[in-house]
Amino acid sequence: MSVGVGVLVSGSGTNLQALLDADRGGRLAPGRVSCVVSNRPGVRALERAAAAGVPAIVVDHKAFAGREPFEDAVHEALVAHGVEVVVLAGFMRVLTPRFLGRYPDKILNIHPSLLPSFPGVDAQRQAFDYGVKVSGCTVHFVNAELDAGAIALQECVPVLPDDDVERLRARILEKEHVILPRAVQLLCAGKLSREGRRIKISS
Ligand code: GRF
Repeated sequence: MSVGVGVLVSGSGTNLQALLDADRGGRLAPGRVSCVVSNRPGVRALERAAAAGVPAIVVDHKAFAGREPFEDAVHEALVAHGVEVVVLAGFMRVLTPRFLGRYPDKILNIHPSLLPSFPGVDAQRQAFDYGVKVSGCTVHFVNAELDAGAIALQECVPVLPDDDVERLRARILEKEHVILPRAVQLLCAGKLSREGRRIKISS
């Protein structure tokens, strides 16, 4: 039995691509990417989904009167495609507790810093400007607080003496593409269990 994975995106979709590649290579099993939903029309992520033969759906937040009707439309699309696990892969909208309550412990997000350092937008620049020597990325469960849910996986990268933000961003992104599919596979396989904030990984 496969586990339907719905990926929510807003932009370029390189993390989505990592998920699609993992799926094609059998590295997401029992997870299967069953649909991709973008809140922005015309983004590259939609092309990636279509190229992989995965339903690519636009639910434009601007077409709705508020967050809840927007989320209801997203939920409807996910239900229609048998989604059990939701992945936020560069999805730039904050979800309401009402939506989160529909997928308890089933929504993962990828964030480009070692949380709890540097939550929020442009985490790579925040880390670079702060002057840290090590940064990285985090896959975490999504709760009602921004970038604050229980941590599933993290990976670190060095900040090198001659770095600029773009080089650091690229180094982190490479690791994102490794840990996101890995975390999704573990969740789909029932290998992530939560005790409070602590996530246990079973082999
Ligand atoms: C990534 O850096 C991710 O960590 C952040 O948004 C970016 C999305 O990039 N949440 P992409 O669309 O997957 O290329």
